[in-house]
Amino acid sequence: MTDWMLKVEKLDKQFYLHAQQRLIPSTCAVDLELRPSQLLAITGPSGAGKSSLLKCIWRSYLPSGGRIWLRQADGQLLDLALATEQQMLTLRRTEIGFVTQFLHCLPRKSALDVVAQPLLDDGVAARLARDRAAELLTRLNMPAHLWNVAPATFSGGEQQRVNLARGLIRPARLLLLDEPTASLDPLSRDCAIALLRERKAAGTAMLAILHDPALVSALADGTVRVQAHSSPADAAQTGSANTQERQAA
Ligand SMILES: Nc1ncnc2c1ncn2[C@@H]1O[C@H](COP(=O)(O)OP(=O)(O)OP(=O)(O)O)[C@@H](O)[C@H]1O
Ligand SMILES: [Mg+2]
Repeated sequence: MTDWMLKVEKLDKQFYLHAQQRLIPSTCAVDLELRPSQLLAITGPSGAGKSSLLKCIWRSYLPSGGRIWLRQADGQLLDLALATEQQMLTLRRTEIGFVTQFLHCLPRKSALDVVAQPLLDDGVAARLARDRAAELLTRLNMPAHLWNVAPATFSGGEQQRVNLARGLIRPARLLLLDEPTASLDPLSRDCAIALLRERKAAGTAMLAILHDPALVSALADGTVRVQAHSSPADAAQTGSANTQERQAA
């Protein structure tokens, strides 16, 4: 069996609200192991800390405890919980991709340029970056008459396709997906599933927050259930409740 690429051990995240002197529990004691070409579905109730888990791996959130081991392309292990900002900036360009829950974009930028931006940031020629963006938008069933319009006024499903294309445009060994198809109609959803399956087959490892059981069985090789906790005291005691299971065939 192939070695894991990502190993999360007892990951905790809490937020301290200074103004109210209150501790808000979020992700609690999550353990998981992810191999290349594997997709693990993250499930669990609203507020259980699923998005926070992905943000801790992406390191827009600093974990409160635990370890996030990444086996990098050169074979070296790095604990993302302790990585420097500079190391994270490099990894986000070279190894880790994130499709966030919602699209954040500038009001006057066209959908094509929003999608092409990560490649433009890497110094790829504008023509090539836009060609690649157009290719991805086509694959995701995005009508061509919208490519040159700014996505601020797009419908939820249109924005989600732009967001997916932007998150997938850079090659990544590890992809983090936060409810990537929640707003898509069945046809666009099937296009997204086909694209994600291709990336999986090419070796990309993925952690995806998925609510729809049909989507879990279409894409996932296993499930990590993130448990809800009702109070900060619970957060400290949930222990090993967050389990990883293999997907039934
Ligand atoms: N930046 C933040 N500051 C304070 N509390 C936060 C912050 N981000 C998340 N939380 C809290 O952490 C808890 C978990 O939030 P998170 O967004 O990770 O949940 P989730 O499992 O993704 O929920 P959903 O299924 O609704 O998307 C929530 O109680 C939320 O209010
Ligand atoms: Mg969430």
